[in-house]
Amino acid sequence: MDYIEFGKTGLEISVAGLGCGGHSRLGQGYGASVQAGVDVVRAALDRGINYIDTAAVYGTEEIVGHALAGVRDKIVISTKGMVVRTGTPATGAEFAPPEQLRASLESSLAKLSTDYIDVFHLHGVMPSQYAYCQSHLMPELLKFREEGKIRFFGLTERFIHDPGHDMLMTALEEDFWDVMMVGFNMLNPSARDRVFVKTRGKGIGTLVMFAVRKALSNPGALKELLNDLIEQGLVDRDRIDMSDPLGFLVDNADAGSIINAAYRFCRHETGTDVVLTGTGSVAHLDENITSIRQGPLSETSLNRLRDLFGHIDSVSGN
Ligand SMILES: NC(=O)c1ccc[n+]([C@@H]2O[C@H](COP(=O)([O-])OP(=O)(O)OC[C@H]3O[C@@H](n4cnc5c(N)ncnc54)[C@H](OP(=O)(O)O)[C@@H]3O)[C@@H](O)[C@H]2O)c1
Repeated sequence: MDYIEFGKTGLEISVAGLGCGGHSRLGQGYGASVQAGVDVVRAALDRGINYIDTAAVYGTEEIVGHALAGVRDKIVISTKGMVVRTGTPATGAEFAPPEQLRASLESSLAKLSTDYIDVFHLHGVMPSQYAYCQSHLMPELLKFREEGKIRFFGLTERFIHDPGHDMLMTALEEDFWDVMMVGFNMLNPSARDRVFVKTRGKGIGTLVMFAVRKALSNPGALKELLNDLIEQGLVDRDRIDMSDPLGFLVDNADAGSIINAAYRFCRHETGTDVVLTGTGSVAHLDENITSIRQGPLSETSLNRLRDLFGHIDSVSGN
């Protein structure tokens, strides 16, 4: 495994991180057993991954806590609390009172069988929710840190609804956050100029989510997304082969597969620290670690991607 310095946190982190959410949720999203989830986390540890991302709402914290028994202090745990009231829409304006965030943190500590969280994020914050976070939840985060319950402040965006990073761009105007989780992939690289330039300048550690998601792991979902972009005039139909739209990445043995290309694309972008991979399969985990540790794509492939999608800021690939 390769390791990097994680912004100004002083943490040394593996370039691949295990995501315990997304569609897979360590396999729980499609009915895998709890033991299978524990096996995926332990396989990640065996391969040198030391960054594990989960969240109160994923239903995987207990699995992570179980898998980390005996090695917790060697691992960086990242979890999250919601900023809306439990049971209300995640994009809405019924905000979580600070006591709810505190109860969520206490529950995470118990489920993860630990006394402290390394990176505690506000989860999936919408642009319209950020002002509430500033006035009501960030003061609470400061208290959590004073109490020794969390080490670093993290912020994740709601990329499906905010694919142009409006919330993170607002948050980057102040000096509060240690870590940001950012949506970034071959189909929407807009974080390059809007987020990573600033996170680098401020020494904020970055985690990439949505490297693959559905559009880059499912050919039908990719075609649907591209047809939408073509209809909106954002991609030129004459410049893309719809029978195999990203086949050029695999031609000339540049990448072994589109998924391989997708992880390498994220890994080698200047300003990305940790690429999260979310899976319920040890075989996929192994493939993805191999991809993340490989070199960059060729200049020819990168130029073609820039030409096709460099201007896109309206899709997530979900
Ligand atoms: N706002 C937020 O805070 C937020 C939002 C989204 C995600 N996240 C975090 O980011 C993490 C990463 O996102 P993600 O889970 O969507 O990850 P991802 O790595 O972009 O995509 C994972 C998807 O691709 C499939 N996949 C992975 N490797 C594969 C392979 N080699 N071959 C075929 N299919 C493969 C997985 O299914 P299999 O299980 O079959 O491998 C899963 O459905 C999440 O787990 C979560 O921790 C945070």
